[in-house]
Amino acid sequence: MVLNVPFGDMKVHYRAIQKEIDEAVQRVIASGYYILGPELETFEKQFAQFLGANYVVGCASGTEAIYLALAAFGVGPGDEVLVVAHTAVPTISAISMTGAEPVFVDIDPKSYVMDVNKVTAKLSAKTKAIVPVHLYGQMVDMEPLLALAKSKGIPVLEDVAQATGATYKSKQAGTMAECGAFSFYPSKNLGAFGDGGAVCTNSKEIYEQLLMLRNYGQSKRYYHDQIGINSRLDEIQAAILAAQLPFLSGWNKRRHEIAQKYTQGLKDLVITPHEEAGRNHVYHLYVIQNNDREGLQKYLADQGIGTLIHYPVPAHLQKAYSYRGYKAGDLPVTEEMTQRILSLPMYPELTDAQVDYVIEQVRNFHLQNPQAQLVCSSSERASNMALQSR
Ligand SMILES: Cc1ncc(COP(=O)(O)O)c(C=O)c1O
Repeated sequence: MVLNVPFGDMKVHYRAIQKEIDEAVQRVIASGYYILGPELETFEKQFAQFLGANYVVGCASGTEAIYLALAAFGVGPGDEVLVVAHTAVPTISAISMTGAEPVFVDIDPKSYVMDVNKVTAKLSAKTKAIVPVHLYGQMVDMEPLLALAKSKGIPVLEDVAQATGATYKSKQAGTMAECGAFSFYPSKNLGAFGDGGAVCTNSKEIYEQLLMLRNYGQSKRYYHDQIGINSRLDEIQAAILAAQLPFLSGWNKRRHEIAQKYTQGLKDLVITPHEEAGRNHVYHLYVIQNNDREGLQKYLADQGIGTLIHYPVPAHLQKAYSYRGYKAGDLPVTEEMTQRILSLPMYPELTDAQVDYVIEQVRNFHLQNPQAQLVCSSSERASNMALQSR
């Protein structure tokens, strides 16, 4: 029997919390206050408290959260920003919006995030910021990265779009560096019912900059101290986010439980995600690697299971960034991963029956196609990739 397991399902998500969402939306509509009002203030306070950060500034998207934080650092034309190419391209778009240039660092083959050992080689006199991306829901190795950045006097911005609620030695993602940028795109671990984003910081100075930059650069109404933009989190979205915040930790726990089921069920046939010690992975995405990703994707689609590739083309090889002059082979670990990765359905509303069905179908494919199987220990994989990158 074919069971339908879509890659994502926002309607199921809405139905699970319909009462809270409907109440929040109705309250805002009836209030007559839609931009920069009490709902946003409440959400910013509650989210700051959840994170353990001094300040949160809501804005219109994750892309603009990254842009606003970099602008608050003073990043602009002529500057370079270190970042990975294995990310959602909006991370890079936001760097470009400041006028600065992205400089790409390869990833670690086990955790799939920035390889902190490869940062020093990419630093230059022009480096004005470093943007570690906590991809798929697991944080970058922040302590050595922050120590290096501090020694060079370079500010760090965490891209937390895929890792809301993740931790590193009990510290919330976004709170370890000068700023953290969040996306509330609907499918994110904490998602709006539309676009939304936020920046968190512990610095009063950066906080005050951010308040101006998101609101046309105004210090007070009609007095523009900075060249700003319009990037505000609507009252409706703020109310929807505040209504969902109490559920976030439970949802992240359920994501982790689903991930453990997948890993137990599949680790003898495919490469499953590696969880670094001391870091709590919140599984925005559950990504496996095998030797026939297209074959598996088609087989699963025929069985009613939705999958996606995050991401098929790394940023340094995208047409939009060809002007930077990168070529195939420049980031070997990123490029190798890109050929093999496939994201399975991952959201808290998945039922155990759906998860078991996905495991069963992924197993069926690999048992019928043994050449597609790919298993080796993480350390073997790391040393294979190190050899290839020479
Ligand atoms: C890692 C990462 N950074 C940045 C973004 C941009 O966020 P948004 O879509 O809210 O602009 C996303 C989401 O697409 C993302 O996954």
